[in-house]
Amino acid sequence: MEKKNIDWSSIGFGYMQTDKRFVSNFKNGAWDDGVLTSDANVVISECAGVLQYAQTCFEGLKAYTTEDGHIVTFRPDLNASRMKDSCLRLEMPVYPEDKWIEAVVKVIEANEAYVPPYGSGATLYIRPYMFGSNPVIGVKPADEYQFRIFATPVGPYFKGGAKPITIRVCDFDRAAPHGTGHIKAGLNYAMSLHAIVDAHQNGFDENMYLDAATRTKVEETGGANFIFITKDGKVVTPQSPSILPSITRRSLIYVAKEILGLEVEEREVFFDEVKDFAECGLCGTAAVISPVGKIVDHGNEICMPSGMDQMGPVIQKLYDTLTGIQMGHLEAPEGWIKVIK
Ligand SMILES: Cc1ncc(COP(=O)(O)O)c(C=O)c1O
Repeated sequence: MEKKNIDWSSIGFGYMQTDKRFVSNFKNGAWDDGVLTSDANVVISECAGVLQYAQTCFEGLKAYTTEDGHIVTFRPDLNASRMKDSCLRLEMPVYPEDKWIEAVVKVIEANEAYVPPYGSGATLYIRPYMFGSNPVIGVKPADEYQFRIFATPVGPYFKGGAKPITIRVCDFDRAAPHGTGHIKAGLNYAMSLHAIVDAHQNGFDENMYLDAATRTKVEETGGANFIFITKDGKVVTPQSPSILPSITRRSLIYVAKEILGLEVEEREVFFDEVKDFAECGLCGTAAVISPVGKIVDHGNEICMPSGMDQMGPVIQKLYDTLTGIQMGHLEAPEGWIKVIK
């Protein structure tokens, strides 16, 4: 398969239309078989449930080329299962998990020419999503839905290496107790847009959200979970019912415990403790781990001892091990790597 003539090392983290996408429709209580189509446009009623009441959820995962030339994806079963949880919470019909993974595979295969080569740093980002498609004017769930998956090549998240970022404690809340913070609903991201624009305007890279009920505990950022390292080398990660269960974070915890032999604490993390940690990072599919160098709380600066030049040593080890597993340099735990071809 001939690759597209793309300068892989210069593409950014943006959308590029590729050849094929998967579409399946839910009508009269059942999903159809679904097809791959060349049509990148969605045509729905002006009154569709998604447009009026934001009934939509999504997932994000990557396909990439390993050192030995295979095209693989990482733990898609966890994305399928998280999307099921999102659908149930939003009164949307679940797309069966085995078929969900099959459809992801079809989209990767159909867009093989867009899977970046090994060593380019770029990957094929896969975006499955679902939305209410029929007219809804009274506030209620839609009766008809569309499930789609598109793929787009994305560049290395950090060009020229991962430099530590500066984040701020945010005065806006991301998720209410008993709300939708634990699922990947579009509405969670819509309400974070003002906060991130405001953070950027004030010179910060990201927002640290605290728990909405007490504003004393660390939750997550708009698009990643936190991971902290104590001065004696323990891995600490916030546990909360209102944060998204990051697949990267869950994988890093396994790597820390089972491969690196580190002690791990998944627990409530009070903001007051943050000044005592040695390292801090944000974890998610896009960047795996972004190091945090500075956290600003209304003018009070917490400078992580790992500094503003590079990742701290423990986070670096976690990063190297997980990316080594993903790229095929290190043996993967059972079931983590799905080989497409
Ligand atoms: C709010 C939020 N938290 C955490 C994550 C990281 O999750 P994952 O590691 O599954 O990409 C994401 C990105 O998907 C996110 O949007």
